[in-house]
Amino acid sequence: MAIKKIIAFGSAKGGVGKSSITASLALTLSKDKKIGILDADVYGPNQNILFNLDTKNEITSKGIKPALHNDIKIVSMGNILNYEDAAVWRGPMLSGAIKKLINDTQWGELDYLFIDMPPGTGDVYLTIFKELVVDKFILITTPNKLAISDLQKTVTMLKKLDVKIFGYICNNIFNVEDIDNKFFVTNKINHLGTYEFDTNLHDFNLDYNSSITEQISKVILSDV
Ligand SMILES: Nc1ncnc2c1ncn2[C@@H]1O[C@H](COP(=O)(O)OP(=O)(O)O)[C@@H](O)[C@H]1O
Ligand SMILES: [Mg+2]
Repeated sequence: MAIKKIIAFGSAKGGVGKSSITASLALTLSKDKKIGILDADVYGPNQNILFNLDTKNEITSKGIKPALHNDIKIVSMGNILNYEDAAVWRGPMLSGAIKKLINDTQWGELDYLFIDMPPGTGDVYLTIFKELVVDKFILITTPNKLAISDLQKTVTMLKKLDVKIFGYICNNIFNVEDIDNKFFVTNKINHLGTYEFDTNLHDFNLDYNSSITEQISKVILSDV
């Protein structure tokens, strides 16, 4: 497995835009770089849906074959289970599944592997940080009291696990006017960009170039 950099996108709160923003950044960066996406949200996989993937991740004796959107290599439980099936697993089974997705996938050469993290702070986080060296963690949050309160838990966990926080992306889905960034200033977490409500993200337009995504992509590329 020759992966140059691994970037995880996460927040303890669900519904803040982790999956959509991960996919948008992958689309933009894939114009110049080799990108893979590991959809680590085993209970609620979304990358297969965002990329309209109808092929399954083929499992052969050599391992798991990623599905492709253009040159982006995507592995998601959503491409392994049937569309309407749900993974109903306890912690050890969940960790086992994540380990398999990480270690058995034929990623080939990648400049960046993006990990779309699930909500929460549980087993998947522990497994990912044990199995992989995550170079950067990017926090994604809506500017909202509950989301930030959950994010505090993510930050505490990342500090405990010694994972480097690269910065945060504010996803202002509801176009709130007064954004309180006190939490990020106090914790010295860099602001990477702010999205507003965007119908192209809402309906996930695969041909869309978001200017915010381009801006954040440049920041990612500049950090070598
Ligand atoms: N900036 C945005 N503008 C409009 N809709 C958005 C935006 N960001 C996310 N969404 C929508 O919000 C919902 C949650 O986004 P999602 O990427 O699934 O979040 P998460 O992965 O954190 O659960 C989805 O329905 C998505 O289409
Ligand atoms: Mg998600």
